[in-house]
Amino acid sequence: MKVLIILYSGGQAAQEQPKLLGTTENKLGIYDWLKGLGHDVVVTDDKEGPNSDFQKHIVDAEILVTTPFHPGYLTAEIMDKAKNLKLCVTAGVGSDHIDLNAANKHKITVAEVSGSNVVSVAEQVIMTMLVLVRNFVPAHEQIVAHKWNVAQIARDAYDLEGKVVGTIGCGRIGYRVLQRLEPFNCKELLWFDYTDLPADAAKAINATRVATLDELFARCDVITVNCPLHESTRGLINADAIKKMKKGVWLINTARGAICDRMAIVDALESGHIAGYGGDVWDVQPAPADHPWRNMRGPNGNGNAMTAHYSGTTLDAQARYAKGTEEIIDNYLNGKPQNPANVIVADGKYATHAYGQRK
Ligand code: NAI
Repeated sequence: MKVLIILYSGGQAAQEQPKLLGTTENKLGIYDWLKGLGHDVVVTDDKEGPNSDFQKHIVDAEILVTTPFHPGYLTAEIMDKAKNLKLCVTAGVGSDHIDLNAANKHKITVAEVSGSNVVSVAEQVIMTMLVLVRNFVPAHEQIVAHKWNVAQIARDAYDLEGKVVGTIGCGRIGYRVLQRLEPFNCKELLWFDYTDLPADAAKAINATRVATLDELFARCDVITVNCPLHESTRGLINADAIKKMKKGVWLINTARGAICDRMAIVDALESGHIAGYGGDVWDVQPAPADHPWRNMRGPNGNGNAMTAHYSGTTLDAQARYAKGTEEIIDNYLNGKPQNPANVIVADGKYATHAYGQRK
């Protein structure tokens, strides 16, 4: 059986740090195990274009392992050529790089390691929120540039205390963000999701569910995006949506880049309607060198807190999603049932409610 594994290349860092499991060098720690079982295992970071390793080996692979950090985009067209493909495993959380409707058509199972990096992301959301609201990035850049101008930083620096903060999506990550916000004494914590929380979970956080996204837009000083990318969230944060937000809103997106419209974000930041935009996810990854989110800035030269996609790939998270990937493959190889929480699509249908409301 052929197992195709697409990971990012870790170079020297991966040689020096064996805990960087999600790299082509350290192979999620599963290469020797799979080879020992007699499987043909291909590990590569070469994923773009018709001559890539990805497209060459997908034609006869039975299992594809990909990671959201360096996504092998499995389109319907590529899937048509993947005649043996039965199982796609996302080493991490978020399987939007796979055309899930096409996977259903081909009866391919898509599974991810649910929960493996949700704390890692929730922590990053809180950090990014503070970095933006407190205007940290230019404050640090100033120091590195041998300057000292307190007023220039303080003119756009606020406290998180007393602000209205809301999450779009209140699943594993959104909920953990709200939990972590409690001690900051925000004015209000809001959430919007079409899925309700279990009663005890709702009671355990001091947050209010809003009925519509427009209400969340209108009330929040800070908005954090924590829903998956699917048909109805692609481009959800566009120019129209931004118009409904308060002037000076801070926007944090660690979910998926394509949930936000690329140029609408740039325009709103440059005009000052958005005071800051931060996150680690891009509408194409790796982000091209000229992607406008790299250098966009607000009127005072600040408001950009973008990084490469790494919030869910801390070393702690890598240990968890590497182990989870092994378990999913082991279940498959031995005909054992998958943990239902990990299954996104199977047997031609969605197994989760998280990727859009469907009949
Ligand atoms: P989850 O499945 O536990 O929760 C997602 C929630 O979003 C669900 O409650 C669902 O009902 C809700 N939702 C879906 N569409 C919505 C919409 N249109 N409006 C409002 N709510 C909507 O997923 P989890 O673990 O919280 O992860 C969420 C997403 O975060 C992932 O799908 C992934 O895209 C992203 N992520 C990013 C990482 C990173 O490293 N930056 C790492 C892990 C996840």
